[in-house]
Amino acid sequence: MVKLIWENKKNNTPKLEDIKKFHSNFFKSFEHLTHTGNTRRRTTNNSTFWMNKLFWGDNLEVLYFLLNNLKEKIDLIYIDPPFFSGTNYQIKIKENDKIYESIAYYDHWNRDLDSYLQMLYERITIFKLMLAETGLIFIHSDWHANHYIRLILDEIFGEKRFVNNIIWYYYNKYSAGKKTLPRAHDTILVYSNSNNFTFNQIRIPREKPRKQLMREMVSGVLKNVKDKDGHVKYRIVTDKKMDDVWKIPCMQPASKEWTGFPTQKHHKLLERIIQLGSNEGDLVADFFCGSGTSLIVAEKLKRRWIGCDISEYSIYLTRNRILDYQKRIQNYNPFEILTNLSETRSKIVDSGFFEKKFSITRKK
Ligand SMILES: C[S@@+](CC[C@H](N)C(=O)[O-])C[C@H]1O[C@@H](n2cnc3c(N)ncnc32)[C@H](O)[C@@H]1O
Repeated sequence: MVKLIWENKKNNTPKLEDIKKFHSNFFKSFEHLTHTGNTRRRTTNNSTFWMNKLFWGDNLEVLYFLLNNLKEKIDLIYIDPPFFSGTNYQIKIKENDKIYESIAYYDHWNRDLDSYLQMLYERITIFKLMLAETGLIFIHSDWHANHYIRLILDEIFGEKRFVNNIIWYYYNKYSAGKKTLPRAHDTILVYSNSNNFTFNQIRIPREKPRKQLMREMVSGVLKNVKDKDGHVKYRIVTDKKMDDVWKIPCMQPASKEWTGFPTQKHHKLLERIIQLGSNEGDLVADFFCGSGTSLIVAEKLKRRWIGCDISEYSIYLTRNRILDYQKRIQNYNPFEILTNLSETRSKIVDSGFFEKKFSITRKK
């Protein structure tokens, strides 16, 4: 079997007993958002019923924490991690009259591909343990590193568990390049945990209706349908089975769904992913959730969800997007926000950061 090697590659996953010992109390709920949509309670949630969860912290810590209770319980994992793009994504924050700048997230890596791959390797190793037997994982990336990620997935999941290499073709993004063709697609690699995975075929509208021969099964053989004069019959079809090239635009600032987060993905992309690989009531997780697109879609499609991000701006956007959506549809599905309340994080929470009204825009 072909394996990808990099300097200092190691499988650092601690033993499950150690994970239980050191990580079972690592995260605490600091906010429960219940049926009124804004009831804020600082509490530890010891209840046994399911509540959707948004984690603020490093996803490796979150994965260790969740391994205690949710091993093999997640039905669909989608991740849209940093792509090794060599850029740190900046944002401008406007709060009343004050405008300041911050980093939405880091993707520079000082050109150190080895540490980028090691970061993903450690997390993908745990994703495999978290995924249900019938589960699917969708890993979003682009030309910077997708060729390496596929080999990592082959190693961890097994090359036989490869399901699809989805091409997201975004036709509306300007891409300069004097000596390259304009780059207009991302890649979403799909792997399963067994042969018995959830997979809902989706039909999508055709660009133009098409005349198609009518066929029917006669004694186990597919035959053309003919009229009484022996002429083959046709029908007009307006939809088709969705294939692995998805033509969906990039989010544009003019869209009403736009949050200002630099690499916000289109909700239509997430709708397809979540519909394809899960059913109502299933548990969907995104451990690099950014502005929370996947979680909003999971909420709309009546899936349970877990989200995670390391940045307070992502947690701010995700929290408030979910609350706005719930207010719009008047359905306050409870969720909780959890973190490891360090001194810095306590200060942020105590300053009322998550309830503030500010607007975020991408800094060009
Ligand atoms: C490409 S963005 C995700 C965008 C998201 N799909 C959306 O639609 O808005 C990647 C996110 O991963 C987060 N991230 C990077 N490293 C992380 C880590 N170790 N733990 C948790 N989140 C991380 C970043 O803060 C950033 O918000």
